[in-house]
Amino acid sequence: MIKIVQSKKPSASMAKDLKRKRENDSPLQAKRLKLMVSRKELPIWSRKDDILGALEKHNILVLSGETGSGKSTQIPQFLLDASWCTKCVAITQPRRVAAISLARRVAEEMGTPLGKSSPASKVGYSVRFDEAIGPSTRIKYLTEGMLLQEMLRDSSFGQYSCVIIDEVHERNLNVDLLLGFLRELVYSKRRKQPLKLVVMSATADVVGISRYLQAGSPEPSSNGDQTTENDEQEWNGFSENERPARTASRVALVHVEGRQYPVTLSYLDKPCDDMAQAALERIFLIHCKEPLPGDILVFLTGQDKIQQLKASVEAFAANLPPKIPPLQVLPLFAALPQSAQQQIFQPAPPRTRKVILATNIAETSVTVPGVRFVIDCGKAKIKHFHPKLNLDSLLIQAISRSSADQRKGRAGREAPGQCYRLYTQNSYNILEQATSPEILRCDLSAAVLTMIARGVKDPFRFPLLTPPNPKSMMKAMLQLLRLETIDSSGAITPVGRKIARLPLPPNLGAVILYAASEASSCLAEVIDIVSCLTVESIYQHIETESAREEALAARGTLTRRSGDHVTLLTTIRAYAAESTDRKAWADAHLLSHRALQNVLAVRKQLRAQCLSAKLLSGKTFPEDTDAGDPLQPVDEDLEARILKCFIRGFVDNVAKLCPNGSYKTLLGNEIVAIHPGSVLFGRKVEMILYNELVFTSKAYARGVSAVRVGWLEEVWP
Ligand code: CDP
Repeated sequence: MIKIVQSKKPSASMAKDLKRKRENDSPLQAKRLKLMVSRKELPIWSRKDDILGALEKHNILVLSGETGSGKSTQIPQFLLDASWCTKCVAITQPRRVAAISLARRVAEEMGTPLGKSSPASKVGYSVRFDEAIGPSTRIKYLTEGMLLQEMLRDSSFGQYSCVIIDEVHERNLNVDLLLGFLRELVYSKRRKQPLKLVVMSATADVVGISRYLQAGSPEPSSNGDQTTENDEQEWNGFSENERPARTASRVALVHVEGRQYPVTLSYLDKPCDDMAQAALERIFLIHCKEPLPGDILVFLTGQDKIQQLKASVEAFAANLPPKIPPLQVLPLFAALPQSAQQQIFQPAPPRTRKVILATNIAETSVTVPGVRFVIDCGKAKIKHFHPKLNLDSLLIQAISRSSADQRKGRAGREAPGQCYRLYTQNSYNILEQATSPEILRCDLSAAVLTMIARGVKDPFRFPLLTPPNPKSMMKAMLQLLRLETIDSSGAITPVGRKIARLPLPPNLGAVILYAASEASSCLAEVIDIVSCLTVESIYQHIETESAREEALAARGTLTRRSGDHVTLLTTIRAYAAESTDRKAWADAHLLSHRALQNVLAVRKQLRAQCLSAKLLSGKTFPEDTDAGDPLQPVDEDLEARILKCFIRGFVDNVAKLCPNGSYKTLLGNEIVAIHPGSVLFGRKVEMILYNELVFTSKAYARGVSAVRVGWLEEVWP
């Protein structure tokens, strides 16, 4: 007899299991499960309850922990489990590369696609000129500047339940500003729900910051200077002598111990003159002597030095005997494109050693796995303000002792390691203990404009973690007054409000606004040039005099006599109009295809922002094909209108020719020379306008064009 068995409907729990199985089988979920294993090993994992508990009781948490302990990736995910966290979590990063790579990593850890690709994505990022945010985004990685921009649009941060300020030890100017606004906002009655603030640092020296945040609360601790039983819990993980005498009861502190293996240290016996050569030798000594695995991380000063050393290492490695394993050389700097960033986090191929050539970005901002050897050149490019020239520039200078120690620590993350300092022990001993906060070293005009746009009546009295120098504040106010962004009473003008909302420094913002005026009518052209100025150089790196000649010849059809500004315009337009093979076109002209791609992306964003700010009279910008032949000379009248816009924003950067053939700035009477990379190099014109100065043996003006005295009088009557 045949028995017919009626198939049963799956029970609810079976259906759930099936659904979970299907989900876990998807590639995203498989990756999530795989990453869960390493997440659980991070030192921060076991501290989740402490951290969430502290934030239940307090509005502000200061969290310190060694780089790589898991702060940037895990804390936002922990917060999503808190009952009070019903909206988004914002987390700031000092650099674009870190914001984007962290967002990608956390999306993988959560098994969700990244922002742009799907409306269901829970993780996204927002950096200048690039955004990947969806309707379901709950964790948003942003650069510090972007969060400040958001604050101008929504001053109470209504979309966030929590803001995390990461890498606060770097003490960037934008971080100091954010802390100033946020310490008031967490207690603001304007918000329907309280805002939580988490401040994270890779160094344990957080006493000053927590005191400062405590002082922002409306009612200071009722028990004054006394330490209470409650305070004991707030100093979670700190040893007795790390606690401040007066504890902050509104601010909780948690310290996470990192895993640090011993690192042996060696110095040079005597100072070396050729850092690149010393680094090259050390890389190959390690590579030929030390067994695999164990990658090498080299700290250098900037992109140009990284690219030069990369070429030397690759050339040298090509001639090694076959029994020596191959090397994989990877650069790491702030302007690196996304695809190259990803490579840094991948393990080296079998029987291969990775050599990562990095700027100070690898000190704390980006953790490179697999490193056992660190080579430290002891220098970094650091921003400085020149009061006489009224501008910022990057100077190569010795790092601080705290930076040197951070660099050394990178060798001992996964196993015992070695650190080679390419300087003497004496040089180390005389280093400054820590780099001074950026607020003491740079132009404050953007910061002051942000304060005023955010409603601060008297920027001189705005309480910041480190009070800026009153003279620098005064200079910034004068600069803003000159750009007509504020009036003589210090109040913001309508122009100032528009400039504050553009993701550009006030002087470039002023250039854009002037270009949009009826008299100038050259907004599209000026946006093209400004886009070129905001990315890394569009030119391929040139080292020798003969290579310079070759480059000049290759770029001949793009060069314009008036100088670099209109040459940039011609170049970007010719690139945009190229319809067959843009990469081949860029290579043939010795231009960087990658940088030019970035320029077009920036241009797209700037155009959209100008349209939404109603700066363009029409509804759209012209198509690249509408502009006619990009290689035709630019009409003289248009050329003059364009350069006048730049005079408007950069009047401090005008220099006139002296009888002895040098150029002297109109303000400050400083001598400047035209940079060899400029199309005006070697030419004498009555007056020049430049975008920036670089200091090597002397002050070199870069981004230079010839301007007329009459134009100056027209723009600045
Ligand atoms: O913020 P913190 O320096 O404490 O650590 P983290 O950035 O959260 O990094 C924790 C770990 O996640 C690192 O050691 C890396 O192994 C991994 N990670 C990664 O693979 N890719 C990233 N983009 C960031 C982190």
